[in-house]
Amino acid sequence: MQIVILKDAAAVAHYGSELFAAQLKKQPASVLGLATGSTPVALYQNLIKLNQQGDISFAQAQSFNLDEYLGLPGEHPQSYRYFMNQQLFAHIDIDINNTHVPPGNADDPIAACEQYERQIAEAGGIDLQLLGIGRNGHIGFNEPSSGLTSRTRVKTLTKETIADNARFFGEGEYQPHLSITMGIGTILDAKKVVLLATGESKAAAIAATVEGPLSAACPASALQMHQNAVLVIDEAAASKLA
Ligand code: F6R
Repeated sequence: MQIVILKDAAAVAHYGSELFAAQLKKQPASVLGLATGSTPVALYQNLIKLNQQGDISFAQAQSFNLDEYLGLPGEHPQSYRYFMNQQLFAHIDIDINNTHVPPGNADDPIAACEQYERQIAEAGGIDLQLLGIGRNGHIGFNEPSSGLTSRTRVKTLTKETIADNARFFGEGEYQPHLSITMGIGTILDAKKVVLLATGESKAAAIAATVEGPLSAACPASALQMHQNAVLVIDEAAASKLA
């Protein structure tokens, strides 16, 4: 696992977007694994700028998002499909039909999980996977105790994650407690993984990821097994490293 420690969140976003730009320049038909949450927003803004300047193109690329709330259709403002359309897809030259987010409104979620795995395999696997990290060490919605070889499946969110994400929902608004998420095994199959973390609130999770035992108690520690994983973090997120 490679660790890159940078001064602040802007530097982390810049470094991360350069990795994605380099991937697209090397391989225009890349399969990109994408994430939602607050952390990747600045990276997506950088990619939009590079695309609009003509430095990179997504025209031949495909994308697969890590996760989605179960019970929210893609038109719901809190759904991750909606987030991706707003934060990235609507502003770049990607073919929207080549963007994939687990279907939060699937009639048969278990079959939808199997189909998502098949679609990733048919696309040739993920070339570059972007990750954020939860304060409890989750990646995607693989909460602590998730199987380290798990595949895309329905997962219950922990109370901590529900509380952390409550900031995105209005008072009294329905907030799902279930998700569809790529598994840890699915993530580990990506050819390259880049995890971004910024801020002091992520410092304990980063220390457990890098220095803790390889354990389902900290799902991100599974990246210790990946041959080509890079953690791009700011000084605050690095502050609990030995
Ligand atoms: C989002 C995802 C989550 C987030 C994590 C951190 O698709 O998979 O694992 O990356 O919860 O979220 P932020 O960036 O909001 O701190």
